[in-house]
Amino acid sequence: MSEMAKLQLGDRQLELPVIEGSEQEHAVDISALRAQTGYITIDEGYVNTGSTQSAITYLDGENGILRYRGYPIEQLAVNCDFVEVSYLLIYGELPTRQQLDEFRQKLRRHTLLHEDMSAFYDGFPRDAHPMAILSSTVSALSTFYQDSLDPRDDEQVELCIYRLIAKLPTIAAYSYKKSIGQPFIYPQNNLNYCQNFLRMMFAVPCEPYEIDCDFVDALNLLLIVHADHEQNCSTSTVRMVGSSNANLFASISAGICALWGPLHGGANEAVIRMLEDIRDNGGNVKKYVDMAKDKSSKVRLMGFGHRVYKNYDPRATIIKDVCNRLLKKRNIPDPIFEIAQELEEVALSDDYFIERKLYPNVDFYSGVIYRAIGIPMDMFTVLFAMGRMPGWIAQWLEMHRSESKRIARPRQIYTGEKERQFKPLDQR
Ligand code: SDX
Repeated sequence: MSEMAKLQLGDRQLELPVIEGSEQEHAVDISALRAQTGYITIDEGYVNTGSTQSAITYLDGENGILRYRGYPIEQLAVNCDFVEVSYLLIYGELPTRQQLDEFRQKLRRHTLLHEDMSAFYDGFPRDAHPMAILSSTVSALSTFYQDSLDPRDDEQVELCIYRLIAKLPTIAAYSYKKSIGQPFIYPQNNLNYCQNFLRMMFAVPCEPYEIDCDFVDALNLLLIVHADHEQNCSTSTVRMVGSSNANLFASISAGICALWGPLHGGANEAVIRMLEDIRDNGGNVKKYVDMAKDKSSKVRLMGFGHRVYKNYDPRATIIKDVCNRLLKKRNIPDPIFEIAQELEEVALSDDYFIERKLYPNVDFYSGVIYRAIGIPMDMFTVLFAMGRMPGWIAQWLEMHRSESKRIARPRQIYTGEKERQFKPLDQR
């Protein structure tokens, strides 16, 4: 017999079932609450509210644990490449060599964009933010690839998955090339995922392009640690839009828009802007920390704090280590990295941050690596989206395959005017 939660409402007592997950997390199932009591629950920002049960990613915020399909992120980061982790998240198991080769081959067949889509880029202003281009272009994929829109047709969904994962680097690189007035570089399918992307970003037709293995390895690791993170804001958006049976292109496009916000994926760009601001104003880290503690300043320490992690974000640990190794190996002195480390040291010894359990999150150090690779700042969140793509897809698939799938439609408590009668214009 599962545990029951007792709820006392006035003179009524209700028993609600308790759900226990595979890692002993507990939830009170309130799906019968309104029918039995007329009451609903309210939880601004869903701080205490679960939207689903999921078998994809496990977070333990208190202990700083992150696992994809049961595998610790630390092991995946050093042993896999991003395509392998994408397979794991989407299909639930690490692929055999044959499965991985077949998956890579399927992705290779879809790296090109429909040629007519390149005209899209002429329509955007040169200084358009690449996240706006990304969400628009991903949504527009549904107009060029109308043979893969039906969310209930497994073959069409499979084709849509290959197209999204394979084309995102091409779409992203094209937006960068357009912004700097250079010609698009077509994907080259003899290269791996990260090699292909960096070549499309930085090669030019008039010179040979040399693959930089250090930068390829660093990018591969960054994409892996961004690949999924259970029910975060953008993933919940993908699930919510998908719950209306909108196609996968449309669901992902909505997730890209949610990720853009500086409180979410846009934080990686905001961190570097913050660190540059500190550098340009004399490097006074303590002054910035004091501003972040002062609510009236409206300043936040970007890249710090997390809804779930009340300990060091394990991804930040991994990324900071790569920063150290890459910058040392390539002898890339970056004052921004020095300032970031000093900022972390000052903040983590300050009671305000200690009491609120605010630690560096995934976005705090990732921009240092993107800068070292030569990625422009306004592309940082685009790379977050590239990494998160397999996670969004896996979560969307799990939602569609769930026996209890229903359209997501939250309730509310009305606090507006009671009924009143219409007044004609000349009586107002
Ligand atoms: C990502 O959900 C995910 O998993 C997201 C993500 C993923 O992989 O998908 O991990 C990616 O989005 C990481 C977070 C990136 N965002 C930032 O770095 C922006 C800065 N951080 C925050 O704004 C904030 O910490 C959030 C948005 C991340 C979390 O916000 P919460 O959980 O709603 O917490 P809160 O805003 O209620 O803060 C609690 C307290 C408040 O102070 P009090 O009202 O208790 O006095 O902590 C303070 C906040 O003012 N606080 C900060 C702070 N973050 C929280 N104060 C200064 N600087 C900060 N960064």
